Amino acid sequence: MIYEELDKFQDDFLWGSASAAYQVEGAWDKDGKGESVWDVYTRQPGTTFKNTNGNIAVDHYNRYKEDVALMAEMGLKAYRFSIAWTRIYPNGRNEVNEEGLKFYENLIDELIANNIQPIITLYHWDLPQHLQDLYGGWESREIIHDFNEYCVTLFKRFGNKVKHWVSLNEQNIFVTLGYVTAMHPPAVKDQKRMLEANHIANLANATVIESFKKYVPDGMIGPSFAFGPVYPFSCDPKDVLSAENAEDLNCNWWLDVYCKGKYPVFAFKYYERLGIAPTIEDGDLELLERVKPDFIGINYYQTSTVAFNPLDGVGQSEGINNTGKKGTAKESGLPGVYKNAKNAHLETTNWDWAIDPTGLRIGLRRLTSKYNLPILITENGLGEFDKLEEDDTVNDAHRIDYLSAHIKACKEAITDGVDLLGYCTWSFTDLLSWLNGYQKRYGFVYVDRDENDQKDLRRIKKNSFYWYKNVIRTNGEEL
Ligand code: BG6
Repeated sequence: MIYEELDKFQDDFLWGSASAAYQVEGAWDKDGKGESVWDVYTRQPGTTFKNTNGNIAVDHYNRYKEDVALMAEMGLKAYRFSIAWTRIYPNGRNEVNEEGLKFYENLIDELIANNIQPIITLYHWDLPQHLQDLYGGWESREIIHDFNEYCVTLFKRFGNKVKHWVSLNEQNIFVTLGYVTAMHPPAVKDQKRMLEANHIANLANATVIESFKKYVPDGMIGPSFAFGPVYPFSCDPKDVLSAENAEDLNCNWWLDVYCKGKYPVFAFKYYERLGIAPTIEDGDLELLERVKPDFIGINYYQTSTVAFNPLDGVGQSEGINNTGKKGTAKESGLPGVYKNAKNAHLETTNWDWAIDPTGLRIGLRRLTSKYNLPILITENGLGEFDKLEEDDTVNDAHRIDYLSAHIKACKEAITDGVDLLGYCTWSFTDLLSWLNGYQKRYGFVYVDRDENDQKDLRRIKKNSFYWYKNVIRTNGEEL
């Protein structure tokens, strides 16, 4: 539909911004924190861009007051951050570390004092290393109990102050990169193990959502899914069928479980025929069907376009673009299922991510048609090179254009009938990109550091800072 006039954002729309503990905090061993799998993984040379790690990151642990003051100056309504499990339970279980709880309590209080609603992510990939060593982390059902204990500790402590919670961040990414492409810890390449770990993560997700309803009955919780709606490369029915395959295996495989408590039929049959379908025990499906999220969180960066791929066609790519050299991402696919194709209608970033605001509207509509739940955009943003000028300005017009077009797409989706609770950009300050170092910047606030030198970690407002401030002030009327 093309409208002459668009609906307005609701008055309590959550204009937000997001981050994750490992990517901003630093202080990796301070105040009793235990080691996470990322603390350990990044010590192995060659795992990340220029061997970057989050030991110091952007030092948010020590500078959170300064960061919150900047958020307040901007007029931010919500700040999504993750809690590091290893600050609360250094070993992942048993002993609670009060100093860790205190850090997040201080952060939450500081946000609330500045009229910023905290949105807590319970898990953003920094699994306690001890649990990885003890029982293989997500590959053991023991994690369901430990994750639930950790979450309940947080629900009890912060449930009276924090009303929006995210359970798992991008389960689809952490299991795929952890167990299929071996780019994240534990760096395994085994699809069967991925599907088993993923099923256990589904059960853990449902278990904590069920606990949440008990401890925070007036709050809302949902997972954050890395959502890349799929397009067929052409109207050739073979391409269209390939797109259906990809949508089923890459999106519905998670979303149907979260929202309907069921695995999609074709994808499950496909994995069964390969002999790698996950092991379903008594009671699993009952749990998944019983528990529903209050909203769907989505992290939206791009759509994917796919084409027909014969049985002897393209396989899993070895090469992602983590350098920012445009055009270096390698072709990738699943023989007999689909292969990724370049969409000639879309520009890409320097990291080869398609820029597609209309894809966001399409995605929001697909989710609403299929699941009819409120949606919270928990991440959207542009990772690019930014230049700090001599007069301490950063002209990131490219980011303003990107965000403006995506917010307009949100407005169109709302006009279509999508129930959108809020929009969090990724990210507030610049931060560490897991595999891409510090040069791929996302923030409204430039942080003066790079891969080679932590410099003075000074905060400098980019032009997009002032632009988003005005977006919030006008409740999305001036983009
Ligand atoms: C999401 C993650 O996948 O995308 C973030 O939740 C991440 O943690 C963001 O940083 C951007 O990805 P990248 O690879 O550009 O850092």
